Amino acid sequence: MSDGPAAGASRAPAIVFEGVGKRYGSLVVLDGVDLAVRAGEVLALIGPSGGGKSTLLRLINGLEVRDAGALRVLDVRVPLGPPAARPDDPFWRPLRRRIGFVFQAFHLYPHKTALENVMLAPVAVRGLDRTEARARAEALLERVGLRAKLGARPRQLSGGQQQRVAIARALAMDPEILLFDEPTSALDPEMSAEVNEVLRALAEEHSRTLVVVTHDYGFARACADRVAFLEAGHIVELGSAAEVLTRPSDPRTARFLERVTHHDR
Ligand SMILES: Nc1ncnc2c1ncn2[C@@H]1O[C@H](COP(=O)(O)OP(=O)(O)OP(=O)(O)O)[C@@H](O)[C@H]1O
Ligand SMILES: [Mg+2]
Repeated sequence: MSDGPAAGASRAPAIVFEGVGKRYGSLVVLDGVDLAVRAGEVLALIGPSGGGKSTLLRLINGLEVRDAGALRVLDVRVPLGPPAARPDDPFWRPLRRRIGFVFQAFHLYPHKTALENVMLAPVAVRGLDRTEARARAEALLERVGLRAKLGARPRQLSGGQQQRVAIARALAMDPEILLFDEPTSALDPEMSAEVNEVLRALAEEHSRTLVVVTHDYGFARACADRVAFLEAGHIVELGSAAEVLTRPSDPRTARFLERVTHHDR
């Protein structure tokens, strides 16, 4: 893999939220969110269910649209108000090529093999030559430990294997930003460990900006440069994993961690 365009020492932030608000009808989901994610940074986003984590993540690639504040993604100012992006949306199309999204439920194409799932976007979207796309897809699947499963269809793969295909598929577009929404929460512990190993290797590269919504505090502690605690639409606390997870300064963070982590801290 190349380091990608995000590699380098002093870089502008990859993602900047300024006073971002989002509501569904009368429900305020994000309220004045300020957040700058550095290029090459690994940010873990934690917090209670319904706090707005997925919404925040989905704003970054246009799956949702904010209704207040400013948002910059990869130095592109996202205008206020365009409807949630369709695949052919003229504003989002070029930007989305630079952003990978990995969902909790994998979302692979069920009738395509692992190899085809990974090859598809580079050929269809980037116009990459099939031979080259195939070689790259094989290398990516090898990298996530699935060299032996190139021809398997999703239903022939375990959840952890499917999620690793989904990660390889996201990497195939060589994104500068990778967004993960609870990538291991549908998996049992053993499969989570396989996926976390892949995520950890990606995090250690620091060649892309990673934003990972997670309830896996062990993972956040081991891999995240910073951890943000989001509650009721507010970033309550943002700091190193040690600051936020071990010595939270805000009582709301402390109360939340007290509730959700028992042996983990
Ligand atoms: N399309 C929608 N229409 C209406 N309300 C929505 C929609 N999407 C999300 N919400 C509401 O917005 C709030 C924030 O949801 P969000 O999915 O961002 O939370 P979350 O922090 O990701 O929670 P979880 O940890 O359970 O995934 C919730 O109250 C949710 O019910
Ligand atoms: Mg969510």
